[in-house]
Amino acid sequence: GITRHYKFDIKLQNVTRLCQTKSIVTVNGQFPGPRIIAREGDRLLIKVANHVQNNITIHWHGIRQLRSGWADGPAYITQCPIQTGQSYVYNFTITGQRGTLFWHAHISWLRATLYGPIVILPKKGVPYPFPRPHKEVPIIFGEWWKADTETVINQATQTGGAPNNSDAFTINGLPGPLYNCSGKDTFKLKVKPGRTYLLRLINAALNDELFFSIANHTLTVVEADAIYVKPFKTNIVLITPGQTTNVLLKAKAKAPNATFLMAARPYATGPASFDNTTTAAILEYEHLSASTSKNKNKNNKLPLLKPSLPVFNDTTLATKFVSKIRSLASAKFPAKVPQKVDRKFFFTVGLGILPCAQCANNTRVAASINNVSFVQPTTALLQAHFFNKSKGVYTTDFPTNPPFKFNYTGTPPKNIMATTGTKVVVLPFNASVELVLQDTSIIGAESHPLHLHGFNFFVVGQGFGNFNSKKDPAKFNLIDPAERNTVGVPSGGWVAIRFLADNPGVWFMHCHLEVHTSWGLKMAWVVNDGKKPNQKLPPPPSDLPKC
Ligand code: C2O
Repeated sequence: GITRHYKFDIKLQNVTRLCQTKSIVTVNGQFPGPRIIAREGDRLLIKVANHVQNNITIHWHGIRQLRSGWADGPAYITQCPIQTGQSYVYNFTITGQRGTLFWHAHISWLRATLYGPIVILPKKGVPYPFPRPHKEVPIIFGEWWKADTETVINQATQTGGAPNNSDAFTINGLPGPLYNCSGKDTFKLKVKPGRTYLLRLINAALNDELFFSIANHTLTVVEADAIYVKPFKTNIVLITPGQTTNVLLKAKAKAPNATFLMAARPYATGPASFDNTTTAAILEYEHLSASTSKNKNKNNKLPLLKPSLPVFNDTTLATKFVSKIRSLASAKFPAKVPQKVDRKFFFTVGLGILPCAQCANNTRVAASINNVSFVQPTTALLQAHFFNKSKGVYTTDFPTNPPFKFNYTGTPPKNIMATTGTKVVVLPFNASVELVLQDTSIIGAESHPLHLHGFNFFVVGQGFGNFNSKKDPAKFNLIDPAERNTVGVPSGGWVAIRFLADNPGVWFMHCHLEVHTSWGLKMAWVVNDGKKPNQKLPPPPSDLPKC
């Protein structure tokens, strides 16, 4: 591979959406941020210079960061933030990965405006395992708030309630024609008849899983979270925050007398309110001459066809879509599913409450894993681990099972207060881990897109209701399960994942709904060094920010 240099200048920029202008934090003044393009095997040196008042970190979501945890980016987990006037060079090599990922800020709610695509092409001369597309187009979903997002989350934290919903969803930063005064703020995709396009779908929205569809066109899913999958056709894609999905779009052989809307709106299962509006972009055919289109008027307008999106709580459809995602599991792209397990964990994930003196009812909404609501430390866990200075920073007693037993998806028992702490699980190098994630309904069942840093995992099983440790493991798929970095824990259900702890460092795991992360639905794994030199985490770079 080669070395590629990028410069990310974090600065303010005025951006107008929904008829209002606000100053947002951007990379190089761009929104969405710049695209990173590299090939498998390349080394990236990305210098991030902070010219704004906020503390900043950037995370390269889905990049394995093999032995380069110092470049992973979650604030106070692998690094202290980059302070105003400071800079830090993220230095990592893309090993054994190709596909679509994305980068985003990983501190507070700044990823609302700080995000952009990562495109990893295969090594030179290596083809895709599907027909070569005529063009590749990132389609990145986001959310837009009229208000300042730092204010939105800070107010929620102070009052103990839920933050306001966003005012619009966006496609490539644009709300699209279904929102007020956004006709001009619409992404347009022009296609040529008969050609195939690779759409690199990325869900960078803060708080919403999304259904996506294009009117009158079928999509072929070929990749999920930068892993090739067995191709399958679908009209609807479900994509959670943190997930990426590549789909092939085959343009019709003859340019039709219509334009087509591609649209996305939420899949939502939780007790919280959400914004059920629709973001849309336009698919337009080239080579439309007046003679081929009877319906065309002088304004060059063709009828606009709309896709039919599922209702917001269509869990049947969501489940059906997710179950179709299978690893390619071919000779060239084998699924290396751990067949034996060294360490087993059972984690509940869900919402709960915590005491809060200044809040209404003296409680606040919290979220937890095994009833521990994670408390962000004031210095980074990775340094503490590397320099053997964990005392006062974190403890290693994260519970491997929930502290209470109940019917997790039934009526919750009374008075379940979460506990708090900065707790981690320590794993020996190369341990093979099986983790069952069980949704709880303490405040209400809800789907949680769980994201693991530093690894891909295999989704070996999933189901509704309570996980049955006697019966369910017999049904695990150890042959071609989906390999991902983010998985939706079903609302009122569970998923089982397996991964090999072959990457020394400290690895964050959290719900990729930003509001749940803010409420504490997060924890970290500490993976110890192996014995061999190439199994150890190298020392930190000299420019690593200090707290
Ligand atoms: Cu995409 Cu820890 O995040």
